Amino acid sequence: MGDHSRRAVLGGALGAGLVAVAAPAAGARGRGAFAGKAVQVTGGTSGIGEATARAFAAAGARVAFCGRRTALGRDVERSIRAAGGDATYFEADVRDPASVQRFVDGAVRRYGRVDIAFNNAGVQITARLHEVTPEQWDDVVNTNARGVFLAMRHQIPHMLAAGGGHVIVNSSVGAVVGRPNLSTYQATKQAVRALVQSAALEYGAEGVRVNAILPGITDTAMIRPANLDDATWERAKAALGQLNVDGLKRVATPTDIARAVLALASDELGYLTGAAIPVDGGIAAGRRMLLPELPS
Ligand SMILES: NC(=O)c1ccc[n+]([C@@H]2O[C@H](COP(=O)([O-])OP(=O)(O)OC[C@H]3O[C@@H](n4cnc5c(N)ncnc54)[C@H](OP(=O)(O)O)[C@@H]3O)[C@@H](O)[C@H]2O)c1
Repeated sequence: MGDHSRRAVLGGALGAGLVAVAAPAAGARGRGAFAGKAVQVTGGTSGIGEATARAFAAAGARVAFCGRRTALGRDVERSIRAAGGDATYFEADVRDPASVQRFVDGAVRRYGRVDIAFNNAGVQITARLHEVTPEQWDDVVNTNARGVFLAMRHQIPHMLAAGGGHVIVNSSVGAVVGRPNLSTYQATKQAVRALVQSAALEYGAEGVRVNAILPGITDTAMIRPANLDDATWERAKAALGQLNVDGLKRVATPTDIARAVLALASDELGYLTGAAIPVDGGIAAGRRMLLPELPS
């Protein structure tokens, strides 16, 4: 748990209207708020990306998602289809330009277009800066920052050709707060936030919007130690929320974040671009002030 309390970082205040989009019903192929939309999700084999792929499919979208773990990807694809959704898994590594191009172009061939891209794939490293090797730095930067750049580089031409689209990048509340032992990770999350701001200006006039979502601490494999049993993790997670999530006092579920992504993607927010929206239970809105014991 030590690492986790140190890692419990991130933060912000959710734009009030964003949670207004109702959770979609399962199995909505051809029906629902996103019926007819073609969606791409990077890193859809687990966690936030998986939850978001499921939520878009349940809301009627046709969803192409990628990741490196083929067995998991196939499981997610099967389970979405069994629930009545339309999803296709592509094996892809976002660090590799050719692999990203195969995913993006293959998904466009499969579903005809890309209306919404959720560029989410990411990894985290927890270590003090001087303990991070150049190879580890490269891996985190190549996944979290270069991977987002590569996905956008291939998605945007399709969107421009179609007259519009919406790119949503999964940054982190780590883009707006610093935390010890996360310098490499936070640097990548600030990098993609900057990418979003400038890209929004480059493509807005041509109908392509670009926004970032900044999740807070979310219950996924990224923060859960692999060796903890469920009961221990539930206790640790409750403490993590109490200690670090100043507003809502609980850690997010992947579905909490997926719902916010769908809300952001909805046409109701069609005037939003270049934004970085924290969805973090209030972490960045304010840190508690702990007072030292004073003599009475
Ligand atoms: N959990 C949190 O507290 C939190 C908070 C803020 C932001 N985020 C962000 O949320 C995103 C998703 O993370 P998560 O929390 O859902 O953790 P997760 O369950 O570990 O998911 C990470 C996803 O990224 C994919 N991925 C990693 N490296 C990849 C690569 N080289 N090529 C293709 N896909 C790759 C993984 O798929 P494969 O392993 O199959 O490739 C997996 O689907 C990350 O960008 C993370 O920084 C998480």
